[in-house]
Amino acid sequence: MVRESWASRVGFILAAVGSAVGLGNVWRFPWMTAEYGGSAFLVVYLCIVLLVGVPGLLAEFVIGRRSNRNPAGALARLAPGTKSWGYVGLFGVVTALILLSFYSVVGGWIVRYFLASFSGSYFADPSGYFGTISFGWEAVAFQVAFLALTALVVLGGVRRGIEAATKVMMPLIVVLLAVLAGWAVTRPGAGAGLSFYLHFDPAPIKNDPIGMLRAAAGQALFTLSLGVGTMITYASYLGEDNSLPFDGSVIAVLNTAVGVLAGLVVFPLLFAFQGGLTEVTRGGESGAIFMGVAGAFREMPYGEVVAVGFFAAILFAALSSSISMLEIPVAYLVDEQDVSRRNATLGLTALVLVTGAVCALTPSVFTFVAGTLVDLMLTAGLAGFLVFTGWILGKNALAEFDSGAGGIARSLGTPWLWGVRTILPLFLLVTLALNLYSLLSG
Ligand code: PFF
Repeated sequence: MVRESWASRVGFILAAVGSAVGLGNVWRFPWMTAEYGGSAFLVVYLCIVLLVGVPGLLAEFVIGRRSNRNPAGALARLAPGTKSWGYVGLFGVVTALILLSFYSVVGGWIVRYFLASFSGSYFADPSGYFGTISFGWEAVAFQVAFLALTALVVLGGVRRGIEAATKVMMPLIVVLLAVLAGWAVTRPGAGAGLSFYLHFDPAPIKNDPIGMLRAAAGQALFTLSLGVGTMITYASYLGEDNSLPFDGSVIAVLNTAVGVLAGLVVFPLLFAFQGGLTEVTRGGESGAIFMGVAGAFREMPYGEVVAVGFFAAILFAALSSSISMLEIPVAYLVDEQDVSRRNATLGLTALVLVTGAVCALTPSVFTFVAGTLVDLMLTAGLAGFLVFTGWILGKNALAEFDSGAGGIARSLGTPWLWGVRTILPLFLLVTLALNLYSLLSG
């Protein structure tokens, strides 16, 4: 069978932005920014996105477009004669399944909040409501609904499924968030939220520079969907005429912009309608967005309408990311094991129903997977992809980088390759060691 490809360049960019823009932007990013000193964190994070994230994204693009394969097939194919690189790609395929197992739990919460927003049934007791729905068999039921939506898109294939869906969802996310932000920042009392979000406090950089660096690096990888092979897989459906450096930069800029925009919704709402952060929201834990914002909806006129818009945006963001997670193992089975897209999608969804239910039923497993495990796997995975690009592909990587790129972008190829060979994997290995150390030292 002929391998599918994107129908248009915009389609590819929107699908990749769709993968990048997700819960990492609307939830994790504003909170980490606020926790780690506002704009001080923003500066460190932006540097890491620019110096590690974008080059990493380009390495994945290069591997994907050169091989036209899923991560496992790509690395095996581009390094003939050695089996071991294929395993590095396979590690990404497994990471994708683990990611989807916890991500779909949160996806289930969002489906539920979206539906409950029409009646506002959770407004009265936000933390009680979250407590009853977050883990257990009801959480599994909504997780199944979220996974079914994800599978439905992936079943449609690259053009009619992923490209068509993200082309509708991405503009909607931006419009919904922009309208909500425009409204939120003009509420009386919103200014305090803005200054909390974007205040400049260098203390976290001085007091705990390593902690901050780890947080910023983890966030940069997660938000750009790096280290799993999503971007390898998406670029594998690409023709030779796209400029990878240009497309990669557009994707990184749009992704950051949506994160900043989400913060402009969350903090003004919390400060204008709740008078600031409560005990719950300050913790920045997984449920805080649901509880904190729900309290604000209760206080505002037409809170149900705002809530529906808010959770619709988050649902689209989560879905456009979860489909990119499922697409990796689906592409692997289709490319390497000759399974049909239909059977691969259905079989893998059934598998994630089981592994995901474990996360939805056991909060301690959920927390470990969503935090520590995913951070470690993404960092290790990206380090592997970079070493592969720099040392195994080498000059061929440069040729792929240049293909379709304009003059200015081409001049960046050589410094990019040097970074990918040396300093970037080193940076990731140090981050990995720090993460392992903090895990083992409890
Ligand atoms: N980038 C997504 C987010 O910010 O929510 C999460 C993600 C998607 C991570 C796909 C990794 C991945 F392969």
